[in-house]
Amino acid sequence: MAKQEDIFKNVVSHAKEYGFIFPSSEVYDGLSAVYDYAQNGVELKKNIREYWWKSMVQMNENIVGLDAAILMHPTTWKASGHVDAFNDPLIDNKDSKKRYRADVLVEDFAEKIHQKAQKEIDKAKARFGDAFNEQEFITTNARVVEYLAREKEIRERLGRSLGNGDLEDVKALIEELEIADPETGSRNWTDVKQFNLMFGTKLGASAENAMDLYLRPETAQGIFVNFLNVQKSGRMKVPFGIAQTGKAFRNEIVARQFIFRMREFEQMEMQFFVRPGEEMQWYEHWKQTRLNWHLSLGLGKENYRFHDHEKLAHYANAAADIEFNFPFGFKELEGIHSRTDFDLKAHEQYSGRKLQYFDPELNENYVPYVVETSVGLDRMFLAVFATSLQEETLEDGSERTVLKLPAVLAPTKAAVLPLVKKDGLPEISKKIIEDLKWDFNVSYDEKDAVGRRYRRQDALGTPFCITVDHQTLEDETVTIRHRDTMKQDRVKISELRGIIENEVSMKNWLMKM
Ligand code: GAP
Repeated sequence: MAKQEDIFKNVVSHAKEYGFIFPSSEVYDGLSAVYDYAQNGVELKKNIREYWWKSMVQMNENIVGLDAAILMHPTTWKASGHVDAFNDPLIDNKDSKKRYRADVLVEDFAEKIHQKAQKEIDKAKARFGDAFNEQEFITTNARVVEYLAREKEIRERLGRSLGNGDLEDVKALIEELEIADPETGSRNWTDVKQFNLMFGTKLGASAENAMDLYLRPETAQGIFVNFLNVQKSGRMKVPFGIAQTGKAFRNEIVARQFIFRMREFEQMEMQFFVRPGEEMQWYEHWKQTRLNWHLSLGLGKENYRFHDHEKLAHYANAAADIEFNFPFGFKELEGIHSRTDFDLKAHEQYSGRKLQYFDPELNENYVPYVVETSVGLDRMFLAVFATSLQEETLEDGSERTVLKLPAVLAPTKAAVLPLVKKDGLPEISKKIIEDLKWDFNVSYDEKDAVGRRYRRQDALGTPFCITVDHQTLEDETVTIRHRDTMKQDRVKISELRGIIENEVSMKNWLMKM
């Protein structure tokens, strides 16, 4: 089994074993691509949300928050384009009855050809060492040239067919490339159909009068329809932003890779309203600001990259993803989109209400342009959790599993451990907890040998273990053990708050942005 797959399997099982994430309704064998956050997961998720919220709302005078309802008037989704265009092309295999995204089948095929070219490049690199000129090799080696040209041709044809809504050609491409069902090898395919990703539901008591609604597929539209309410009630001046976190729902055709692609997930979105013509400078500003936010968590600069979109959605005049190096490769973590005035204008048109701003400096009315930042909270969770989970071999040859979460995000900041369950040590430990719990999430553990308790806290990502021993009775000192270095210091009980605060305070972390 590939190493990447091992790492990923480990992430999923660690998340379950240590109370971070469970499959939804597991007693009924779970529900595909739906997950529950357990006692530690919910804390980590809350901390990520808070870290985002503070950086957006608290740190920016001109950004305010919103919590719009999940259910919205159905015309919202007509105006936004989701009813007509929020589709994925799907294809079924007639023999296996498995369903796939037609575009993903073709893209995976193209990626395999790319990998063949990459293999030739890697082989040549190993053979020629420092003298290797990659660019020259790519343009002159006949096999590599052929592979890359073939890949380009396939990707371009797919892009054209999807762009023109020509689903027959997507099917023809799958047949010409002899793409088989990845699970069974069958090439017996149905036609390609468009599949709308929105979940429908009904509002109303009786079937005849019920109104068809959708569960929102993005939180952004709740911001757009409230744009003028917020602007007027908050006396906001362009440029300003509205931030929101909340659930979104998508009936993904193929939902795999754990919490990377879910059917119910959470987004953290911010719409920044600007003067028409100034959107590009704000787009660049938010691209960099959002990258800095990610980097401040210290997960490694090399794990992030931008992917600028060449093919733009109909409403955008620029778009980029911040991609993260997940255990299964670089994938989208966050999107930054310059959405022009598309959404506000569409809501004006469908509602018949003006959604315009009077700019006192220009002395004119206009529909603002919007730059959006949109990050999946669950994807953030996966990025942080998977990167932090590490196996270490210690000096004495033993192994430890440690979840090196950024301390600011750790579910529990400190565990208090009496060395033994007697001699008054549990009582002192509980007093320490009583004192610290006003500022931090702290836990108590008296079960098993202290070494095993340390290992358990390492696996939970707790940055500090505070051990109360017999010396504590004499001089009011304890040992404080640091998760990452395993270094232990003897300190006064009265110093604990300051030491913990220094490592976990959001202020200190946000200042790294
Ligand atoms: N309002 C813009 C918007 O929704 P998007 O690229 O479709 O844009 C934004 O989604 C972010 O939401 C993605 O970058 C990803 O982090 C997250 N996301 C999207 N679909 C998801 C899914 N099925 N499961 C988990 N996260 C998802």
